[in-house]
Amino acid sequence: MDLTEIDSFDISADHLRKVVALTGAGISAESGVPTFRGEGGMWRQHRPEELATPQAFASNPQMVWEWYLYRRQIIAQSNPNAGHDALVELEKVLKDRFILITQNVDGLHRRAGHKNPIELHGNIFLNRCNSCSERYPDDTLDFDKLPPLCLNCQGQIRPDVVWFGEGLNHVTIEDAFLHSQQATLFLSIGTSAVVHPAAALPVVAKDSGALLVEINPDRTPITSLADAVFTDSSAQVLPDLVNKIKQIETKSKN
Ligand code: APR
Repeated sequence: MDLTEIDSFDISADHLRKVVALTGAGISAESGVPTFRGEGGMWRQHRPEELATPQAFASNPQMVWEWYLYRRQIIAQSNPNAGHDALVELEKVLKDRFILITQNVDGLHRRAGHKNPIELHGNIFLNRCNSCSERYPDDTLDFDKLPPLCLNCQGQIRPDVVWFGEGLNHVTIEDAFLHSQQATLFLSIGTSAVVHPAAALPVVAKDSGALLVEINPDRTPITSLADAVFTDSSAQVLPDLVNKIKQIETKSKN
């Protein structure tokens, strides 16, 4: 696949009938949130099966909580970047013809102003009981003693995220597949595209006729499938790409 320049990237108003973006940890890298794999990735320092699994939580809930509180701290100190902002702009332009699906649990799309991203893997700032699923806002919990315990059933409270080996919320993932099937343009942004089921979404979109665009400095399993590949960072590519989309949209209305 040849690398694409924005100027030579050939899209038309027809591709803008339904635009779906899937984001991964790479979009938040320039906000200072470490990715999971690749250069400086978190999984390079921690084995996922030691921290982000139900088994890890069962055997050492305190260690798992400490790791999540450490990640929360990094995220709380960071801000959305130009990539997140560009996707908010895209939502303003295309309105309900734009769907944002994210694997990120950092909430940065919401903080940037995105109304309703589909958060496939949950949100690191939400908590729920591991036994009865009761949800707990942060201000009702005491994090001095880990794990916090459920007021209803004394079960252990956990971060409301999806761990390895756990299923995704079935309504959420069905929604994501449906939107991907309907996409006329699908943007795969800053994801290594190896964790399923999210990794199947670009493939489903392409098989259903979407133009597939990848934004990632590194090659991934979907690079060879993509119709266009941008290898600059998402904070560099997305503002230009969204500007181009805006121009096409404006022209098609005149
Ligand atoms: N712009 C675009 N892409 C980038 C940037 C950047 N500035 N920096 C890094 N990347 C790319 C990397 O090349 C890599 O392919 O982002 C990707 C990040 O990949 P992962 O760390 O594997 O993150 P992700 O694909 O979101 O992981 C999926 O795995 O660990 C689980 O639940 C976790 O949601 C996560 C899932």
